[in-house]
Amino acid sequence: MSESELFMVHKGVFLTTLVHPAESLKYYEDFTFRPDDILIVTYPKSGTTWMQEIVPLVVSEGDLTPVLTVPNWDRVPWLEEHRAILLSLEQRASPRIFATHFHHQMMNPSYFKIKPRVLYVMRNPKDVFISSYHFHEMASFLVSPGTQDEFMEKFLDGTIMFGSWFDHVKSWLNAGEQEHILYLCYEDMISDLKASVEKIATFLGKSLSSEVVEKIADHCVFKNMKQNKMSNYSLVPEEFMDQKKSEFLRKGIVGDWKNHFSTAQEQKFNAVYQEKMKDVKFSFPWD
Ligand code: A3P
Repeated sequence: MSESELFMVHKGVFLTTLVHPAESLKYYEDFTFRPDDILIVTYPKSGTTWMQEIVPLVVSEGDLTPVLTVPNWDRVPWLEEHRAILLSLEQRASPRIFATHFHHQMMNPSYFKIKPRVLYVMRNPKDVFISSYHFHEMASFLVSPGTQDEFMEKFLDGTIMFGSWFDHVKSWLNAGEQEHILYLCYEDMISDLKASVEKIATFLGKSLSSEVVEKIADHCVFKNMKQNKMSNYSLVPEEFMDQKKSEFLRKGIVGDWKNHFSTAQEQKFNAVYQEKMKDVKFSFPWD
């Protein structure tokens, strides 16, 4: 399969024609939200797939059927991807669960009118970078990343799919409708998954017993979730994702960047980070 061209869909935000054809973007632009919709929003490689496992289990109160029978991309579809059109989302029962990688200002008019519930997940951008680098190596529809130095240039400039991590995070942290948004960090989920499941359940108005929280956390821990063929992307043909090059559920740890960055790369990354994030008040677990 050949690489797909990147094109600019919004100021400084790039998408890929193959996954995000014009008719999909039009579908999303016209999409009507419901107030009880649940929207998982992430910059790619920040824990989307993980949330596509956790949130349906919170909604099903621990019943594993949805996550063991429906692939993650149909269970919690991306609204901007070509498949969304095929899934009759308008007919789905509430609460519907969706994902998007859109920046805040790219959300459609219905989003700003209805204000559905949002779970926004952030991850240390250095780990996002490493995860993304491996993903660009294994996903044939993405432009090959080149060397780590070359990919770092692009990542820091935001000239990759979905644009700049910095702009994405800042756009959602500055959202006006904060009372509809639960901000989560990948690192906190790693350090205490049960507490994160409880936080998500409370935000979604679900009262779960400690046994159910325990069951969800146990199923969603990396080594267990990796076995779920409905979530580990093993159903995707090798020509699209070559998991022999790099697995989709690759390492699932905090701080893998330390195994990959040179001192020069760390300094360069830090300099850009400090400049771009200087006005951000949010207290990140990685700072
Ligand atoms: P790594 O490449 O660092 O392993 P996304 O789903 O947004 O594309 O993010 C993918 C990243 O989330 C990958 O990171 C993947 O391994 C990690 N991930 C997925 N499920 C996870 C889980 N249950 N626990 C921890 N990390 C998980």
